[in-house]
Amino acid sequence: MTESIKILGISGSLRKRSLNTRLLEIAQSVLPGGVTLEIADLSAIPFYDGDVEKEGLPQSVLDFRKKIHEADAILFASPEYNSSFTGVLKNALDWASRPPKGEPYAMPPTTGKPYAIVGVGGRYGTSRAQSHLRQVLQKMDMPGVNQPEILVQNQPVPVFDQDLNLTDTVAVQLIEILLKNLVKLVGQTRAVQ
Ligand SMILES: Cc1cc2nc3c(=O)[nH]c(=O)nc-3n(C[C@H](O)[C@H](O)[C@H](O)COP(=O)(O)O)c2cc1C
Repeated sequence: MTESIKILGISGSLRKRSLNTRLLEIAQSVLPGGVTLEIADLSAIPFYDGDVEKEGLPQSVLDFRKKIHEADAILFASPEYNSSFTGVLKNALDWASRPPKGEPYAMPPTTGKPYAIVGVGGRYGTSRAQSHLRQVLQKMDMPGVNQPEILVQNQPVPVFDQDLNLTDTVAVQLIEILLKNLVKLVGQTRAVQ
C-alpha cells in the first residue's frame, strides 16, 4: 500500500529559515516506506491576474500545477498571518484551482487530491490559519486528513533550537502518524476512483 506514493510539500512561507518549511523537512525524515516528499518552491509565482492567465500561464505556474498533478497527495505547512494562512499560499492555490485553459469543464490538478496540514506558530499554533485553509480546500474539492492535528506552539517557549531542530519530540511522532494517515487516505481515494 505504501508503494511509490509521491507527496508534494507546500509551505506558505518564503523565508529561508521558515519554521513551517522546516516542518516539511522534518516530515521528510519520518516518511513511511515507499513514500517521497518533494517541497515546492512558490517564490517565482506571480500574483494571480486574469489578464495574464488569458495570455497563457506563466512557466512558474505551469511547473507548480504539474507538480500537483504528479503528486498523490499534498502536505501543507503555513504560518498564521493575522489569524489566517498566508497570502503567498492563497495566491498559489488560486492559480492551481483554475480549470485547464480552453477546457471549462476539465478539472484543475487539485480536484480530489488528498491533503494533510502541519503548522507552527505562536500561542495558537496556527489553529486559525489551518481552519481557514481547510475551508478553502473544501471549496477546491480536496479530501483532508483530520487527525492528528499538528499545531506546534513556538511561544511562549520556543520549540526550535538555533539549528532549527524541533525539540518537541511528541510533535515529530504526531507528524509521523499524520503521514501514515495521509497514505491511508490516498489508498481510500484511489479505491473509489
Ligand atoms: C504579517 C504577520 C502576521 C502575523 N500574524 C500572526 C498571527 O495572527 N498569529 C500567530 O500565531 N503568529 C502570527 N505571526 C507570526 C508568524 O506566524 C511567525 O513569525 C511564524 O513563525 C512565521 O512562520 P515561518 O517561520 O514559517 O516563516 C505573524 C507574522 C506576520 C509577518
